Amino acid sequence: LDPTLVSDLQATLRDVPDFPKPGIVFKDITPMLADPRLFGRVVTAMSAPFRGKHITKVVGVESRGFILGAPIALALEAGFVPARKPGKLPHRSIVERYSLEYGADGVEMHEDAILKDERVLVVDDVLATGGTAEATARLISRLGGDIVGFSFLITLDFLAGAKRLGPDKVTSVLSF
Ligand code: PRP
Ligand code: MG
Repeated sequence: LDPTLVSDLQATLRDVPDFPKPGIVFKDITPMLADPRLFGRVVTAMSAPFRGKHITKVVGVESRGFILGAPIALALEAGFVPARKPGKLPHRSIVERYSLEYGADGVEMHEDAILKDERVLVVDDVLATGGTAEATARLISRLGGDIVGFSFLITLDFLAGAKRLGPDKVTSVLSF
């Protein structure tokens, strides 16, 4: 339990209006990443709900999900798997497309990144519409993985992304 984490994050995360497009308020996590104690507390809080759940792989979604997903994988003694934007992975990959709050994109994973029946946690910084996380979950399901849950730093509740993922599977430190 870390009772001041939410208020410390609210004081540290930076709201950037109209980035990357007009009308979007971007949540800039870089001031949190630059503070090693706060970054450590975030990793602990995002890992905690999944301790003892026998997670074997943590999937981090490019790009900010990489930064959070890798230390969470180590904290859970799980392997790390990058889910990348299309065209970046060197080995045979599978792809899923999705529409984003501000545009359309896709996500790819190596076809051998998740083995059948592996217990998988998906990590990203922000849950907005849920399109990115849902496409990532489709990749994991296609490879036979079992999606134990999703851990986000921030959920934007007004966009109702958790409904698409199964609300019981979604955890986050902050919600707006
Ligand atoms: C942002 C954010 C999530 C995603 C959430 O990533 O980091 O990955 O959007 O949106 P959704 O729930 O509506 O799918 P973005 O695609 O901007 O890329 P980045 O992480 O590389 O900055
Ligand atoms: Mg992202």
